[in-house]
Amino acid sequence: MNIATQAVQIGLEWDIRTGAVTVPIYQTATYRHPGLGQSTGYDYSRSGNPTRQALEDGIARLDGAARGFAYSSGMAAIANLLLLFKSGDHLIVTEDLYGGTCRLFDKIFGQYGLSFSYVDTTNTQAVCSAIRPSTKAVFVETLTNPLLKFADLSVFSTICKENNLLLIADNTFLTPYLLRPLDLGADIAVYSATKYLAGHNDTVAGVVTVKDPQLAEKVYFHQNSVGAVLGPQDSWLTIRGIKTLGIRMDRQQLNAGRIAEWLAAHPRTTKVYYPGLKDHPNHALMSQESRGFGAMIAFEVDNYALVEQILLETKLISFAESLGGVESLITFPEVQTHADIPPELRARLGINNVLLRLSVGIEDCDDLIEDLRQALER
Ligand SMILES: Cc1ncc(COP(=O)(O)O)c(C=O)c1O
Repeated sequence: MNIATQAVQIGLEWDIRTGAVTVPIYQTATYRHPGLGQSTGYDYSRSGNPTRQALEDGIARLDGAARGFAYSSGMAAIANLLLLFKSGDHLIVTEDLYGGTCRLFDKIFGQYGLSFSYVDTTNTQAVCSAIRPSTKAVFVETLTNPLLKFADLSVFSTICKENNLLLIADNTFLTPYLLRPLDLGADIAVYSATKYLAGHNDTVAGVVTVKDPQLAEKVYFHQNSVGAVLGPQDSWLTIRGIKTLGIRMDRQQLNAGRIAEWLAAHPRTTKVYYPGLKDHPNHALMSQESRGFGAMIAFEVDNYALVEQILLETKLISFAESLGGVESLITFPEVQTHADIPPELRARLGINNVLLRLSVGIEDCDDLIEDLRQALER
């Protein structure tokens, strides 16, 4: 069944008693026991909640996973995964990754004895050279934030299997609708569900999917022990968002493709990063491995003053952090989303003071282009 169809079906058969088409919000902390030593399957909502479980089962189905897990944010989800490792372990990580993930790794988990090497995960050789005896995992963003580099998961999965490493893929920018990391050999996929999955800029959430049931059991143990679970209201909002994932992604990437071409032809832009453009270095690979190029664009303009002008003068496109929702948003990675990346690394990667990141929404594309035009050309 197509992912778009599966997404619409999430939670549909959940409430057998009433036949409710949408899963109810089980706003309860605890559950009555039918008898001594008996359970309905639910004892306490940190350990399990039916609304959250409808989401967890649904996302597991979308990703072809043994189990899914929902957390209070994408960061909580990633932090929970790092509990799989112990002091002395080393991880290889995409160098061009979300600033908050870099902060979590270096400033929090670094204190507990984990170490991280940041490498260009579009370069297989660089990944192989970074492997040490203490390396336990490779953590990649399938499409990187903000420079939109595409990682070849099938190649990494071979490397990881040969070296007994876990492959963890942050698939936030693509979602299972465009790419299913576990099909390409990843062991675990993680998402900021705040973004395309929930899709309406109205909730903060994270999800994880795990291929192997035994590994999933460990992840569940950590989820329940630490307790950064997603509440029933936010689980419900995330389910509701996922139901329209296919149709939103189709529209958003159609808009993004047109906007990227328009930006690339504009005299005031100096670089446009969008993997759907034929001259993007990963265009051919992504055409084979992904069902689409997503709806994130990064672009450079010809001077810093123009950055401020665009951020202040766009009327339809909001100057705001986050991405993936129905509303288009524009942000300035150097001082916002990627401020926690060390300055030398930012400079080497090209996250500079003329780079903007655009999350393209579902608005009419002509209106979005007109908004950009008036902001760029005033
Ligand atoms: C690729 C990626 N992963 C993880 C996160 C963190 O997710 P959250 O903001 O839901 O905690 C973000 C947030 O922007 C992100 O872009």
